[in-house]
Amino acid sequence: MQTELDSIIEVVYEKVPYLTTRAEVELYKATILGPKGTMTAVMKSMGQLPKEERPAAGKLINQAKSSVITAFNDVLQRIDASEMATRLGPSIDPSLPSPDPDRGTLHPISQVREEIVQLFSRIGFTVAEATEVETEYYCFDALNIPADHPARDMQDSYYLPDQLTVANMSKHADEKYLLRTHTSTVQIRTMLESKPPIRIIAPGRCFRRDTPDATHSANFHQIEGLYVDENVSLLDLKATLDHFVRSIFGSKAKTRLRPSFFPFTEPSFEMDFYSPDLGKLSNKWLEIMGCGMVDPEVFKSVDINPDRFTGYAFGMGIERISMILQGVDDIRYYYQNDIRFLKQFA
Ligand code: PHE
Repeated sequence: MQTELDSIIEVVYEKVPYLTTRAEVELYKATILGPKGTMTAVMKSMGQLPKEERPAAGKLINQAKSSVITAFNDVLQRIDASEMATRLGPSIDPSLPSPDPDRGTLHPISQVREEIVQLFSRIGFTVAEATEVETEYYCFDALNIPADHPARDMQDSYYLPDQLTVANMSKHADEKYLLRTHTSTVQIRTMLESKPPIRIIAPGRCFRRDTPDATHSANFHQIEGLYVDENVSLLDLKATLDHFVRSIFGSKAKTRLRPSFFPFTEPSFEMDFYSPDLGKLSNKWLEIMGCGMVDPEVFKSVDINPDRFTGYAFGMGIERISMILQGVDDIRYYYQNDIRFLKQFA
């Protein structure tokens, strides 16, 4: 019996390395351990042995059986592992860095926004944000922009349907919701929420019904600045803007304030700068923002005493600044999501 069992084990161990699928293993296993299997036949023959020899024979058979079962289990494990490997692909090593070379980067507009926000953070401004959907009150009325002002025109603004309800935002019955046309809305929301001293920088997306061309986009970004305290003067505004322009466009840059008009600042200015470090653009005065001293009418609408407090505000288009810094001559490139364009700023 021992030799019979030995030869079964030998055959099994010879055959097993050639089995490659689970089905093959099961089929083969049946020829050994199944009802008609060779090992089963040896077990059955035990009945013919004299009684006293049976325990020893049973022991031998059990040993042999566990030996072949081990062989089958090993081969099944090997097959499992190789199936897993084919599913995972060649040489997976989870500790290696990703083989994908195309890691994302910040969009060029976001890069410039971050740079400007960082710069103002370092001189004491905190970031404030507000919603892109607004009511006419925050976008216009509280900013002293009268009902007949052209900025409120249907041609200029995206008004939302009257029946719309906007979560957490109430409006008067005769008011409209619209997409904010500038970030100056954040001035109002901030001054209603907190008392002076206030020193905020507010980056955000704005919308106007402009026909897209090289310098206009219906969707664009602004950064608003607001500083309100006792004794804030035009000199503070000029000094802050000088610092900003020199940090962004080169230490030899110069600024100039040109008289202008905004309903929410008095006096109002356009700020131009030139910088000898700007290469092609270095001889030109470039206009980059509107600014001025907060109009007392605005203070009244947010319940700040204009006899005690003064303030300055400014607002600039991020795209305009990005285009100057990055040498981009068409604003539409920023919105086409063309990887060849975006990669240049990675
Ligand atoms: N909100 C103005 C615009 O969009 C810019 C501005 C902001 C002007 C703050 C003065 C003060 O054109």
